[in-house]
Amino acid sequence: MKILFFGTKSYDERFFTECIQKERYQGIEINFIEPDLTPNTAALAKGYDAVCAFVNMDIGTRTVEILGDCGIRMILMRCAGYNNVDLEEAKKRGIRVATVPGYSPESVAEYALALALTATRRLHKAYIKVRENNYSLVGLMGISFYGRTAGIVGTGRIGAAMARICYGLGMKVLAYDMYPNKSLDFAEYVDLDTLLSNSDLISLHCPLTEESYHIINKESISKMKDGVILVNTSRGGLIKTDDLVQGIRDNKFFAVGLDVYEEENGQVYEDKSDEILQHSTVARLLSFPNVMVTSHQGFFTVEALRAISETTLENALAFAKGERGANELLS
Ligand code: NAI
Repeated sequence: MKILFFGTKSYDERFFTECIQKERYQGIEINFIEPDLTPNTAALAKGYDAVCAFVNMDIGTRTVEILGDCGIRMILMRCAGYNNVDLEEAKKRGIRVATVPGYSPESVAEYALALALTATRRLHKAYIKVRENNYSLVGLMGISFYGRTAGIVGTGRIGAAMARICYGLGMKVLAYDMYPNKSLDFAEYVDLDTLLSNSDLISLHCPLTEESYHIINKESISKMKDGVILVNTSRGGLIKTDDLVQGIRDNKFFAVGLDVYEEENGQVYEDKSDEILQHSTVARLLSFPNVMVTSHQGFFTVEALRAISETTLENALAFAKGERGANELLS
């Protein structure tokens, strides 16, 4: 089985090369290339059986059409989310799609907490101040999470891990999900409005779908407590950025931590430090002292990368053996 691996970074190559040495993956071959998978690069896949792609790539209708024309029979997503893949088109063309659900959910949940604490305790400001020989505490006052209420939106693998972490910090935990997670017996499931109006920390962990698109908007922000802390490690499209910016300007938020944001595509995972910014989302968000933005790195731990490479290769192995893998999306 020949796989063309798009958007290769040094860490991808390191972990996949390590993993593919295992005897069980004999017969699977990976060619690593740097370009992302887009309609402009999809034709490179001619002669391969499968492509391996990531969350930031454009795997919309046109890309899938080209992959189909090139004879690609499987798209191996090396991530949990797949909102960037045109599944309908893939199904139409008989291209199978597999993902890596639930690789180290704790890694993402721990990162959500790190973002929440960094933004709330102003660590991002403190780090720069001390480097500048400025030991004043002015502007750095935080609030403690202990005894406050955490609201977890989406309690699947990552949300559940975040709920457990918040409970461990001594927080009361409210949760909102259409499918309550029975293992979270310490959490109180409530409707979204109740969660919004009672939480001191709101952490988003639901996938981006038609229903959840812009779930955080002017109206939902107005329902939140004044001085709320908002964290998003899920998908940028969950938050309507213009409404968030207005909310920050209106002093609604004590702190905001974003690992994902609208318009991140085109720059996520790239070094653009030498270029003029072409849009203003990041610049506007970074202009606020209580906002911390990072570039979709919640998953980025040794544990997660190991799990990602192993599960992706298991997905490939199932295909190579003519079996239907457990992580395939299309029936
Ligand atoms: P999961 O599928 O285990 O859980 C998602 C939960 O959200 C489910 O319980 C589902 O019922 C619930 N849900 C769906 N729509 C909802 C809505 N409108 N309102 C409330 N709940 C809703 O997914 P998992 O593994 O926990 O991942 C969650 C999200 O985290 C992924 O969809 C992905 O977007 C994001 N993610 C971000 C990463 C990062 O590096 N920042 C890494 C991995 C995932």
